[in-house]
Formats: sequence, C-alpha cells, structure tokens
Amino acid sequence: MVIIENISETTEFLKNQIKNGKSIGFVPTMGALHQGHIALVEKAKLENDIVVCSIFVNPTQFNNPEDLKKYPRTLEEDCKMLQVAGCDLVFAPSAEEMYEETPVLKIDFGYLEQILEGKFRPGHFNGVGIVVSKLFNIVKPTKAYFGQKDLQQVAVVKRLVKDLSFDLELIVCDTIRESDGLAMSSRNRRLSSSAREVAPKIFESLLIGQKYLFEGLNVEETKQKVVEWYENSPEFTLEYYEIVEADTLNPIEKKHEGQKTAIVIAAFLDGVRLIDNIVF
Ligand code: PAF
Repeated sequence: MVIIENISETTEFLKNQIKNGKSIGFVPTMGALHQGHIALVEKAKLENDIVVCSIFVNPTQFNNPEDLKKYPRTLEEDCKMLQVAGCDLVFAPSAEEMYEETPVLKIDFGYLEQILEGKFRPGHFNGVGIVVSKLFNIVKPTKAYFGQKDLQQVAVVKRLVKDLSFDLELIVCDTIRESDGLAMSSRNRRLSSSAREVAPKIFESLLIGQKYLFEGLNVEETKQKVVEWYENSPEFTLEYYEIVEADTLNPIEKKHEGQKTAIVIAAFLDGVRLIDNIVF
C-alpha cells in the first residue's frame, strides 16, 4: 500500500493503472476509520482491481469551526487498518494541497440542501459537493463507495454525478452498527462512557418510529410519540426526527404499502452531534 499526499503523484500513479486496464474502487473518507469504512474498502476490493481511499478532513464542509477542530485525526492508525483491508493507495492531502485558494464555486443542491442536514448545517453540502468533485477528478474511479448512514449525502452525490456527468458507478452500502445498534461513526469516539451507554437509544427511536408507522399511525402522530419518548431521555437534544420518502427525501404524510420510506434523525448527545437513519 502506498500513501501519497500529493495530487500530481496520485494522478500519475492512477493514470498508469488505468492505462493498464485496471478498474479503480474509491472510498472517500475523513479518516478516524471504523469498521463501517473498512466494510466499504472490503467491498471495493472485491469489485475492483485497485482500491483507493482518501483521508481528508475537508474544512469547507464544516459550518462549525469547533467541530472541525475536534474532528478526530488518526492517520497512522487509519493506514494500518487500510493495509489489512487490502487498500492499494491512500490519498492523504493537506488542506493547502487540496485548496490552493479558497474555492469561489458554489453548488446549490436546491431542495436537497434546504432540509434536514442542509437546514441545520448551512453550506455543508456545498463543501461536500466541491470536495467530492475534486476527489472524483483526481482519482477517476470506476466505482465510488458511500455509506447509507449519510443518506442525504448519498442523495446529494447522486445528483452531483448525474448533473456533472461523472463517469462512475455509485455504490451505496448498508450502515454498519455496533452490537448494541449504535451506528458506527468517527464521532462516537468523542462520547464519554456514560453517553456511549445511552447512545443506542438513537437507533431504538428509529425502530420505535417504524413500529408506529407499521401499526398505522401517520407521520405526525409517530413523530409526536417519539418526541414524547425522548422527554424521558434529557441527555439527548433532538435536532430533527423526520419521516420522508427514501430516495427523494420528500416529506410524506403516511407510510403507504410498497413505498420506500426513511426515518432520519440528528441529535446531540454529550455535545456530540450524531445522525442515523433506517430505510424500509
Ligand atoms: O462522508 C464523509 O466522510 C465526507 O463527507 C466525504 C464524502 C469524505 C467528503 O469529505
């Protein structure tokens, strides 16, 4: 496995692979890797000749400077995990390497950035759109792997690939959970042990919502019951709990038979912002 910090060396390395007819699987990350990322790398390994993983804590997608500062950075540990998972190239640029100048380009994802994460993290998806486009241009992947845990990011990247005609296939992989149901996330390591103990309630609240919908409650009734349920757990500050159509993220009033539905949540626990979702 090679580790490259430089864009031109990365493109040179990959140009040779592409010239030799190799397919490239790409897993973009911000590091602080966990089994969720490794599952993406392993899938990419099975489906491609070469696997590239990028590790870059992208400053332009953080609307909160404190969050950017606290984002865990564990490059050495990450590289060890990637080596074991069979990654071939780690692209780990500095912010100066990625952004010679602050980008002036603004990507407006319309409705997709006015709701949920977009509403609470203004500018976030513009930053994601720009960095993902830059990474796609640098790596030129055959297939790119994203986790369903970031459901709205998946919708945004789908739009990006379509609107900018990126010649690649997007592969969306299931959320990987701890044995108690907590969705794996780089942010989990910032939780205190007492917060970590109650953190699985986030997933539990998604399953409770799903149960109410299956019992025939409409969206408003379900949301109200879940919000009430959270009143007994004052350690959580709910930012949103929404029930939407899973692909478009359009609001729905009631779950209909055969309709692909998502319940999405963002909540603060112990000062750490966690997100999760289920699709059914
Ligand atoms: O999901 C992430 O880790 C990031 O948003 C991504 C896709 C690597 C872009 O910085």
